[in-house]
Amino acid sequence: MSEKKRPLTTAFGQPVGDDQHSLTAGPRGPILMQDYHVLEKLGHFDRERIPERVVHAKGAGAYGYFEVTADVSQYTKAKFLSEVGKKTDVFARFSTVGGERGSADAARDPRGFALKFYTEEGNYDMVGNNTPVFFIRDVIKFPDFIHTQKRNPATNLPDPDMFWDFLSLTPESAHQVTVLFSDRGTPATYRNMNGYSSHTYKWYNAAGDYFWVQYHFKTDQGIKNLTRQESEMLKGKDPDHATRDLHNAIAQGDYPSWTLEMQILTPEQAKDFKWDILDITKVWPHGEVPPIKVGKLVLNRNPVNYFAEVEQAAFCPGNLVPGIAISPDKMLQGRVFSYHDTHIHRLGPNYHLIPVNQAKHHPENNYQRDGFMRVDDGGGSGPNYYPNSFGGPAPDPAAQEPAIPLEGDGDHYEYAFDNDDFVQPGNLYRNVMTDEAREHLVGNIVDHLGGAAKRIQERQAAVFFKCDADYGTKVAQGLGLDVNRVKELAAMSNEQRAAATAK
Ligand code: NDP
Ligand code: HEM
Repeated sequence: MSEKKRPLTTAFGQPVGDDQHSLTAGPRGPILMQDYHVLEKLGHFDRERIPERVVHAKGAGAYGYFEVTADVSQYTKAKFLSEVGKKTDVFARFSTVGGERGSADAARDPRGFALKFYTEEGNYDMVGNNTPVFFIRDVIKFPDFIHTQKRNPATNLPDPDMFWDFLSLTPESAHQVTVLFSDRGTPATYRNMNGYSSHTYKWYNAAGDYFWVQYHFKTDQGIKNLTRQESEMLKGKDPDHATRDLHNAIAQGDYPSWTLEMQILTPEQAKDFKWDILDITKVWPHGEVPPIKVGKLVLNRNPVNYFAEVEQAAFCPGNLVPGIAISPDKMLQGRVFSYHDTHIHRLGPNYHLIPVNQAKHHPENNYQRDGFMRVDDGGGSGPNYYPNSFGGPAPDPAAQEPAIPLEGDGDHYEYAFDNDDFVQPGNLYRNVMTDEAREHLVGNIVDHLGGAAKRIQERQAAVFFKCDADYGTKVAQGLGLDVNRVKELAAMSNEQRAAATAK
């Protein structure tokens, strides 16, 4: 039978005779329980929604490939990076962070930049953002931070008090806040933004030498941002503008691409480095660690079914291949737990069998068994324990990462370079931004922070003042605050400032 004439069936393939009229007792009577098709149809509809992602709920995805353009075998033994010209299939998902599944693409928010490489050694996920830094540097703060970006528990409304109260009491956020409130906080499209690992990862080569690295996917379309006014307009007029833009560009053959540049430090260089290389609130200045071009990412195929391929896509920073490892960054360590854990909640324990998540070129081979929705043969009749003498899969020591030296007492530690939190956002404001970019930054902040209580405005303006006196002064003036009071608060320690601005 041709595609067009396929008979309608139940979920189990039985032909359906009538899909317009329920089975009733007489023409005006109640529906009969024996109308199995109606029960099945309603029952499935009732269960169509799965939990949305707790963050990054709104997003768009596409397939493509990554091509190696420079020899990096001295730094990593990852096979997909082993030779120039080598291509690996990729699935990418871009997203906003705080909003719900139906929220506007133009929101001021970091953008997720998640890549899944289907390599011959299993899947490798690079789960980054369009910002090189982040708001906090210890995973223990993440749930609190995210709550402040969501809705007020009483009013169910976004709440500038919650947002700025937390950020101003967490001054390590100043760098990311400065990036977010620049026009880069509202990229024109997903195609016009960079993607960064933000974290430091570890690469290691076949000889066991290791390196600290950061990834920068630089857009070949050029950086293009929305102004605050443009983003406000688009949020109402076309809440899906970036989703549409990505789909249309690929459908028209205008394939977006990014050039991967890596920053690489040897462990010796890292020891004497000015910045704590594990602190995600810091960048590695380009002048000190020049990025090297390594490859190209191209997206050239749209998904066919959004739910199957994009909504069910599941990334995890712990999905690594030999040659790539995580670092002891306290955020990254926590992320390795959180993603797998949330996927089990959102998609079930066998989410790795969903086609978009499946390791295509190096299938699963282990002793994990059963669970909800185990839809393959579940390991068939093979042994389900290790060690065994039935020829089951065995670990390969070559897949182990080289040891890293660790030391110290188990305790709750502050970052050693705590006092430097304001230098890099100050550099961004003073040295990188143009007059126009600074003006937009201050305008964007004043517009948003203006909704918070005055004592919170003063505390946050003082944080900006610590980054740069002109920056803090302009924000304070824009908000109509007493600049001397802001200066006084800026001179205090974080604890004193918090006490001086408490309710
Ligand atoms: P550089 O002058 O070498 O680099 C400045 C970088 O800033 C460029 O990569 C540019 O990206 C980027 N940039 C420009 N405007 C903004 C903005 N509004 N928000 C975020 N990034 C922006 O300087 P350094 O490496 O010495 O770093 C100076 C500051 O630049 C840092 O403190 C940091 O805030 C920012 N930065 C640094 C990065 C790094 O890895 N070193 C990465 C991104 C930002 P592009 O080339 O795409 O225009
Ligand atoms: C999504 C946790 C920090 C990038 C998520 C999700 C969780 C989470 C639970 C939802 C996953 C899902 O349901 O599929 C955390 C925690 C963090 C953290 C606990 C702090 C330690 C970061 C950072 C980045 C990042 C620093 C970027 C550098 C992303 C991206 C997604 C995501 C891109 C969306 C992935 C997708 O497209 O499906 N995060 N996150 N996160 N996170 Fe994080």
